[in-house]
Amino acid sequence: MHRQTDGLRRATIGLLGFATYLNVTVVDLTTDTKEHLMSLDLVRGRQPDHPVAEQFLSRWSPRSFSDRTLAEGDVLTVLEAARWAPSASNHQPARFVWALRGDAGFQAIHDALAPFNRDWAGRAAALVVVASKDFAMGKDGTEAANRWATFDAGAAWMSMALQAQSMGLVAHAMGGFDVAATAAAVALPEGHSLHAVVALGYQGAAEQLPEGLRAREVASQRRSLTETAVRGRF
Ligand SMILES: Cc1cc2nc3c(=O)[nH]c(=O)nc-3n(C[C@H](O)[C@H](O)[C@H](O)COP(=O)(O)O)c2cc1C
Repeated sequence: MHRQTDGLRRATIGLLGFATYLNVTVVDLTTDTKEHLMSLDLVRGRQPDHPVAEQFLSRWSPRSFSDRTLAEGDVLTVLEAARWAPSASNHQPARFVWALRGDAGFQAIHDALAPFNRDWAGRAAALVVVASKDFAMGKDGTEAANRWATFDAGAAWMSMALQAQSMGLVAHAMGGFDVAATAAAVALPEGHSLHAVVALGYQGAAEQLPEGLRAREVASQRRSLTETAVRGRF
């Protein structure tokens, strides 16, 4: 039953999002749907240099979260997407420690965030620490430094972000955290590195953000592709 309602909600959000792109006025939306449409509205200013799938333009990193909670299954679905991310030699070095708002673990991860992030990320429904294992077993049976672990953890984070988006959620990565305090909070094992803490949840109204952050609650732009990608040589 819950699944059906959720499916219907997601289908509605999809249709309404499409309607927004067409500039159609839609009335009587739930608050969550309105926030989502506001979000789509904010990303409408993003113009790609070349045609890309809509999901790459409409994903962004809001800081405003609604009170709506997440179920364990929602977080596991987001992490399942990360599980299927590609990795060098399929070593799958990415590791995740997650907690729902209200868990003692959530508080511990939150307390280790940089003050700037602590100001908004406490409203997220879940916090996910993204780490990776630094060493992997080579073909000769000995463990060696896995120099692609960071790259692979980045791919896993992006899978999380896109899966979250497909569920009507938002995901905001943070590099601003105290490494030692976060390592202690999640009992990071030896031979592992921390990369980011991801705030996950339903988007909320920008008005509830601390004043300094409200004006920054818009989707960012990108430099042109020609400044980033060249054919042949740098
Ligand atoms: C590894 C990483 C670290 C980040 N650290 C922070 C952070 O500490 N605080 C924050 O508010 N945003 C943080 N961000 C969000 C970026 O500022 C954001 O992704 C970037 O400006 C592009 O905007 P968009 O994600 O909305 O497209 C981080 C993003 C990444 C990928």
